[in-house]
Amino acid sequence: MYVRNAWYVAGWASEFDDNLKRVTVLEEHLVMYRIDAHTVIALEDRCPHRLMPLSKGKRIGNDIQCGYHGMTFNCEGACVRVPGQENIPASAFVHAYPVKQKNDIVFIWMGDHEQMNEDLIFDMPEFNSENWHVHQGDALHLKANYLNVAENLVDPAHVSFVHPTTLGNAASENVPVHVDTQGEVLVAWRWIRNAEPVGFFQKFGNFNGHVDRWHYYYLHLPSIAVIDFGSAAVELNLKEEERDHGVRIFALHFLTPVNQHYTIDRWMHIRNTALNDESASEQMDAMFRVAFAEDKAILEAIEEQEKLPQKRKPIRLAIDKGPTVYRRRIRDMADQENTDVADEPVRSSFIYHE
Ligand code: FES
Ligand SMILES: [Fe+2]
Repeated sequence: MYVRNAWYVAGWASEFDDNLKRVTVLEEHLVMYRIDAHTVIALEDRCPHRLMPLSKGKRIGNDIQCGYHGMTFNCEGACVRVPGQENIPASAFVHAYPVKQKNDIVFIWMGDHEQMNEDLIFDMPEFNSENWHVHQGDALHLKANYLNVAENLVDPAHVSFVHPTTLGNAASENVPVHVDTQGEVLVAWRWIRNAEPVGFFQKFGNFNGHVDRWHYYYLHLPSIAVIDFGSAAVELNLKEEERDHGVRIFALHFLTPVNQHYTIDRWMHIRNTALNDESASEQMDAMFRVAFAEDKAILEAIEEQEKLPQKRKPIRLAIDKGPTVYRRRIRDMADQENTDVADEPVRSSFIYHE
């Protein structure tokens, strides 16, 4: 179950160079390569002659020559040469996918060309603000379905139990989660007031006493999550709209569904503290790696269980409203694409996490 009319992340900008690279998104194999600092090309990775992957061919300028009999395709996927004959058959082409590089992230449009809209590419004002430090992390490979991975990213309740040394602690175990599913972005959040700082903020907050801590999980359908979390000294009695006055960090997760059982989660962070301090970036990366390895262990264990015959349906708890609505929306969006998609609403290109 995939939503096709969406921009998915094919990689960080740094992952693409002159070389032909095979990338798989929504079970489609693509050959991708860079032709200049701002432009990455994506073509179907399958020669229309004998199905040879074009990623095993070679570049001739900006074109690709198939490694089997030399048919050559340009950046638009049109065949420009068939060795040994003059005419080029009408069916000699490969599909070309729209690709856009923005904020050093390479996005690919997997749906109908007529529906493609660059205004839908994910963006946040913090990407280009001198008050924020942007840092790309890793590509986490999970043997798990992307819906389960996304559910985990609209689920603040697991943090107390899965990430006890970094992002959570016991103080939050019984704090209820609020969920807002009215808007286009699903939001789940909670505040833990007057508690010990968690490991992450003991390290990066310089707090002496108790803090107010927040966790806002924004899920941008179909596959991008922004986790806004932070802490502030209790004495500030911070209001919801004053989070910028605390130590505030956005952890962004760009999920690329490779197939039904494999997802790549490219994560990065944007923070309002330790600006231009690369050693802080590395230390944060190290803590995130600990936390996300904990998520990976959970999600891969669940995937194994899901493959087994099921005797009864999983139960749903009060904390599951976000994940439940998420799955329903994905199903509706995928269904909608198979019927009438002409009236798709246009979102603004900037997303504010108020
Ligand atoms: S398989 Fe590509 S040219 Fe024959
Ligand atoms: Fe987690």
